[in-house]
Amino acid sequence: MVFLLFGPPGAGKGTQAEKLARHYGFAQISTGDMFRKIAKNPETATEKDIKATMDAGELVGDEQTIQLVKDKLNTLPAGQGALLDGFPRTNPQAEALDAFLHTNGQAITAIFALDVAEDALVERKAGRLFAPESQRVYHKKYNPPQVPGVCDTSGEELIQRADDRPEITRNRLKVYNEQTKPLLNYYGERITHIDANCGVDEVFALLKQHIDTLQ
Ligand code: AP5
Repeated sequence: MVFLLFGPPGAGKGTQAEKLARHYGFAQISTGDMFRKIAKNPETATEKDIKATMDAGELVGDEQTIQLVKDKLNTLPAGQGALLDGFPRTNPQAEALDAFLHTNGQAITAIFALDVAEDALVERKAGRLFAPESQRVYHKKYNPPQVPGVCDTSGEELIQRADDRPEITRNRLKVYNEQTKPLLNYYGERITHIDANCGVDEVFALLKQHIDTLQ
């Protein structure tokens, strides 16, 4: 089974991907997390390029992104379900994914679009806290860690993501509207819209309801 989580920056894709992966045993493939790992201590020109691109709120190149995801999908054991969060984000990425799955006799099982009002997106990103090592995501008000400022699982200090600064957030939203939102047309009726203007657990329950009917 291959699931896609689609939505604007800050919609809660990463939060739900982590919960769903844990609940169903899916492999979580989050391109943002994968790129953040690559860009953490950049040494090569490519790594430095990726960091600069992310810090500016722009998208990493299609070729590089597609290869990263294909490599990851190729490592999954047969029968392992996959949950893609933040990929695809452009038409070429969507076409490449369809072609890759087709070649392997597979298809996308379901695409969930998390629909969230713009005001809530701004608030979610402004309060986000992030653990660089464990890559766990928290929110100061809506999903706080047990001890303020400290990751529940790794004990590391939580930080604000560099691309959550207001000016970069604005650009990420612009990039989403220009390059990613058109995928809603590409996928059309294959998309299941989820009203994600509610709490983390409620969104999870809505997603679970849909996935359970497909198992
Ligand atoms: P990525 O990390 O994928 O960023 P994004 O899509 O902008 O998404 P975010 O991580 O900002 O938000 P999210 O929807 O995961 O929300 P979250 O769960 O954290 O990508 C980062 C960068 O990598 C890109 O800008 C690009 O440079 C590069 N990149 C990645 N993929 C790429 C691709 N395919 N092609 C090219 N480049 C790529 O939640 C947000 C906050 O809200 C958290 O604090 C959370 O606790 C809170 N929250 C979550 N759900 C709720 C809720 N229901 N109620 C209240 N608060 C909630």
